[in-house]
Amino acid sequence: MKPNLMLRLGAVLVGAALLSACQLGTKSAKQYGYRGTGMDQITLAAANKKIDPINVVPPPPYDPPKPGGKPAREAYQNVQVLGDISEDEFSYTMAAITQWIAPEQGCNYCHNPANMASDELYTKKVARRMLQMTRNINTNWTQHVKQTGVTCYTCHRGQAVPTENWALPAKGNPDTILGNRHGQNAPVIATAYSSLPNTAFAKYLLNADSAPIRVQSTYSHPSRLDKTSVMATEGTYSLMMHTSTALGVNCTFCHNAGSFQAWNMSTPKRVGAWYGYRMVRNINGEYIGSLASVFPKHRLGPMGDPLKVNCTTCHRGINKPLGGVSMVKDYPALRPTAPMVTAAAAPAPAAAPTKMP
Ligand code: HEC
Ligand code: HEC
Ligand code: HEC
Ligand code: HEC
Repeated sequence: MKPNLMLRLGAVLVGAALLSACQLGTKSAKQYGYRGTGMDQITLAAANKKIDPINVVPPPPYDPPKPGGKPAREAYQNVQVLGDISEDEFSYTMAAITQWIAPEQGCNYCHNPANMASDELYTKKVARRMLQMTRNINTNWTQHVKQTGVTCYTCHRGQAVPTENWALPAKGNPDTILGNRHGQNAPVIATAYSSLPNTAFAKYLLNADSAPIRVQSTYSHPSRLDKTSVMATEGTYSLMMHTSTALGVNCTFCHNAGSFQAWNMSTPKRVGAWYGYRMVRNINGEYIGSLASVFPKHRLGPMGDPLKVNCTTCHRGINKPLGGVSMVKDYPALRPTAPMVTAAAAPAPAAAPTKMP
């Protein structure tokens, strides 16, 4: 072979290796937008075939009981949330939540076996609030969870504390440049190891008063009306990196890269995500936030707040948690059809915006 030809062959091989990018293996592409808009989702063909064990739905503890029988509020002494279900349904639900939260410790993780009605263990008080929270998600946030719904397992996956959580970041000494980095340059996995602000969750997912996520101006020229700082745009980008990682999708799953802002060019998935951000704020603010005084110190973050939820807590790298399987259909106690026991539940979410106000 002529040296010239070898050189060219070498260049072709190196080029091919570079073009295959970081991930080897067969890819499959699915088109989401109109032809020519480049709104494709590229996935590894192999990744589609094998299901991560963490995303497999566990079977019910035993065959679901038949409807009917004495209501739990008459059968027991101290039932504040699940009073509307039958005694049999109640026992079945207790068996299921034991499997989902404390499979090794059993009933006594939340109960004093000598007095099941007692609320002396903090875990029982937390679990009661979590029951209200789960019912609230399944009845008032169907714009997000649809009829698929969620159970305790969607977040807990057999662990007392869900592994995917966040808390307010510890504050350094605000008087030094190293002490207060405003959450910058401390890469965390949740924001795809970018050096973008790791305080994005605290800023956007804390509660109903969290900062607006949208940052783009509606004007093509600089204007006094456009007061968005570069820092705010970095925060939004950090949250968006988290969103993509949590769902295992590209930005174009929701956006048309022609305009990240325009709702009429976005996919319907973006509207689902819009409700998702509001649902997570409701979970963290109204429910988990209200448990700050109930949790013992070792269950709190560095700033003394309880551990909270982000998109990964449920999604675990896939667009529909647990592959879109509806687990809750086997646990009617977690999706009551009767009027909600928790009147304090969130107000119905406002309609998703179709254009910038
Ligand atoms: C993760 C925490 C948790 C676990 C584990 C748990 N429970 Fe419960 N249990 C609760 C909560 C919360 C209530 C109160 C529900 C309410 O107020 O609606 C309750 C109430 C009860 C009651 C009613 C007591 C009364 O008279 O008021 C019984 C009986 C009961 N559980 C049995 C069990 C059994 C049996 C197991 C194990 C198979 C179990 N529980 C496991 C959280 C738990
Ligand atoms: C949206 C996600 C989510 C759902 C759904 C959920 N939890 Fe939780 N749960 C959490 C988070 C996050 C924590 C950790 C809070 C902390 O440790 O500061 C937690 C903590 C708990 C704890 C305290 C455990 C401990 O050892 O301190 C109990 C008990 C619990 N949950 C029970 C339940 C039950 C029962 C259900 C279903 C009725 C449920 N959870 C549904 C997110 C969730
Ligand atoms: C799962 C859907 C989803 C994915 C994936 C997603 N976004 Fe977003 N994005 C949204 C939603 C919803 C909003 C608006 C949030 C709101 O109004 O509260 C938004 C807002 C934005 C904005 C602000 C637009 C404005 O009007 O100011 C930008 C910029 C943006 N996303 C960029 C990205 C980038 C870059 C990626 C990929 C790294 C990405 N997004 C991935 C759903 C998504
Ligand atoms: C409490 C659990 C939970 C949390 C937390 C959660 N989701 Fe979801 N999400 C679901 C469920 C369940 C579905 C499936 C609904 C269905 O079957 O269409 C879903 C579906 C979606 C979809 C539609 C996917 C599709 O293929 O149609 C998007 C987009 C989405 N979630 C975005 C988000 C974003 C963004 C966040 C974080 C702000 C988030 N979710 C947090 C439970 C959750």
